Amino acid sequence: MSKSVILVTGGTGYIGSHTVVELQQAGFETVIVDNLSNSSAEVVDGIARITGVRPHFEKVDCCDRHAMAAVFDKYPGITAVIHFAASKAVGESVERPLLYYRNNLVSLLNVVEEMITHAVFHIVFSSSCTVYGQPAVLPVTEDAPVQPALSPYGNTKQICEEILRDTAASCSALQAVLLRYFNPIGAHPSAEIGEWPVGVPQNLVPFITQTAAGLRKELSVFGNDYHTPDGSCIRDYINVVDLARAHVQAVNYLSGGKNNPAVETFNIGTGKGLSVLELIAAFQKATCIKLPYKITGRRAGDIEQVWANPGKAHTVLGWRAQETIEDTLRSAWKWEERIARVRRG
Ligand code: NAD
Ligand code: WQD
Repeated sequence: MSKSVILVTGGTGYIGSHTVVELQQAGFETVIVDNLSNSSAEVVDGIARITGVRPHFEKVDCCDRHAMAAVFDKYPGITAVIHFAASKAVGESVERPLLYYRNNLVSLLNVVEEMITHAVFHIVFSSSCTVYGQPAVLPVTEDAPVQPALSPYGNTKQICEEILRDTAASCSALQAVLLRYFNPIGAHPSAEIGEWPVGVPQNLVPFITQTAAGLRKELSVFGNDYHTPDGSCIRDYINVVDLARAHVQAVNYLSGGKNNPAVETFNIGTGKGLSVLELIAAFQKATCIKLPYKITGRRAGDIEQVWANPGKAHTVLGWRAQETIEDTLRSAWKWEERIARVRRG
């Protein structure tokens, strides 16, 4: 029997590449579409080294409708799409909103229009816990209200969710799973793939690993005067391989035809909140590296605390996070050591 083919947009990116690995290891054939705006074609080699199978790779911009149509024509066996392709830097989205609205919205429109034209009706979409803002009740469940977005990036996620709901309401065949990720961290345990941030990392864990590697002098902890037990912000840090596995479960769920309603939303987090100071302590314990840090002022726009209730993903998708925070942080550090070797040539 031939394998189901999954189209993975943004598949050479951080979460996409880990998902391609998990899909291939679960027996799926994969087609990556990526314009390499925030990743490298060498990621395909890393995936092949881990899985022993080279995914199909098409260097295509999802905003190019004709090129997307050609991909669906070339691979008539596609049964589902996982749509990761997007621009994701929150600060840049404030400075360049039109770029974010164009890239994140037009890419989704093209993907969905070509799916319908080619009778492909299952899509998994990368959404974000950013849609909840600061939830009134923690841990947050999927039925918590979506709050006004704090950035154009966050707004694109809300609009994309709406686009999928409206389209499914008018096209009864379309079935979508919206995965709201909490804070993805870590790398594949092989250190063959991981996140390669461009410039100074904005996210906490890449900044920690670059500080530990000596690329940054010290970590700034953005605020210790929040209404949390130790005063620093709390997040739900989810291992990227665990997160990738949620996509395999989502694809299986869609192909099982159980999706009801047609668009379902799931929190993908661990269910545990960790403060910035707790995360630093966990990194030091996991790696035996002392991390230089100082407390600075709050970062504008930061949410005080958010963590997931992932119960629905467990009950409905059969997914739950498995990796420990120490193993996850060790994987992030192993990856940092690997890219340090690459940087040195
Ligand atoms: P990433 O930047 O590593 O991966 C995105 C990939 O999409 C990149 O390889 C990039 O080259 C590609 N891409 C961008 N625009 C494209 C286009 N128009 N056509 C084709 N390819 C394009 O980001 P990631 O962290 O892997 O995030 C994947 C998805 O998950 C994004 O939609 C992001 O918004 C979402 N998300 C990420 C996080 C996070 O913290 N990393 C959290 C919540 C949601
Ligand atoms: C985590 C915590 C910071 C850096 C962002 C996006 C969100 C989502 C994931 C996509 C916060 C603190 C950070 C540093 C620090 N992406 N911090 N020093 O802000 O939760 O979420 O990425 O959808 O949309 O906003 O993640 O890793 O930037 O910060 O103290 O140098 O670490 O204040 O409390 P965040 P983050």
